[in-house]
Amino acid sequence: MRIDVLTLFPEMFDAPLSYSILKRAQDQNVVEVVLSNIRDFATDSYRKVDDKPYGGGPGMVMMPGPVFDCFEHVQPQAPDPGRVIILTPQGQPLTQQKAVALSKEPRLVLIAGRYEGFDERIRTGLGAEQISIGDYVLSGGELAAMVLIDAVVRLLPGALGDDDSSADDSFSNDLLEYPQYTRPDVFRDMRVPDILLSGDHGKIAQWRNEQRIERTKKWRPDVYEKHINGNARNDEK
Ligand code: 6GU
Repeated sequence: MRIDVLTLFPEMFDAPLSYSILKRAQDQNVVEVVLSNIRDFATDSYRKVDDKPYGGGPGMVMMPGPVFDCFEHVQPQAPDPGRVIILTPQGQPLTQQKAVALSKEPRLVLIAGRYEGFDERIRTGLGAEQISIGDYVLSGGELAAMVLIDAVVRLLPGALGDDDSSADDSFSNDLLEYPQYTRPDVFRDMRVPDILLSGDHGKIAQWRNEQRIERTKKWRPDVYEKHINGNARNDEK
């Protein structure tokens, strides 16, 4: 997969891309992340990329020119045109299901904005979809783009080591994860549940499944509701 990121702050991406799974995925050519600075495509001597909104109002709006020029510079660099995504709180929510869908694309072109927003012609003219990472407001789309990249790249074949797996992740099965324990078996008077030390793999699997259901019901009733409805639909088939 190739991921292009169009941003005013490419340096913000350095740390998240330099560690752990994202680092290894790039080293192993599972993903190539290409950062482009929108400001490099400003046309005036002040390198201006934003301007006052027509009709008045607070804040500044990203101008279409530098974003279009940056996009048109980057897009021909790979054969696939890519799925174009603007990170904005107005977007569709990023879910695990969405991350799985995006992980099947050969190329993503992410556009992260600052300021009050984008000139609307960026969205319409580039045929972009919009994604949000939650119902709160960040100072820019960069952190959201990094969250999306992490959620997508770890799903790519070869991104996780042999010992890891994304199959049991929270949400992958409409349920939260079961509780995990490691050594020691007693820590400050807190014991690991006996069943995990029993060696009975059938019972352990059953217990873990019950734990997933119980925790989801208690901590994320909204997610549990979806799980039940999904299973009800599957049972009808
Ligand atoms: Cl994608 N961008 C910004 N600026 N704020 C957000 C967001 C994105 N998702 C949630 N809040």
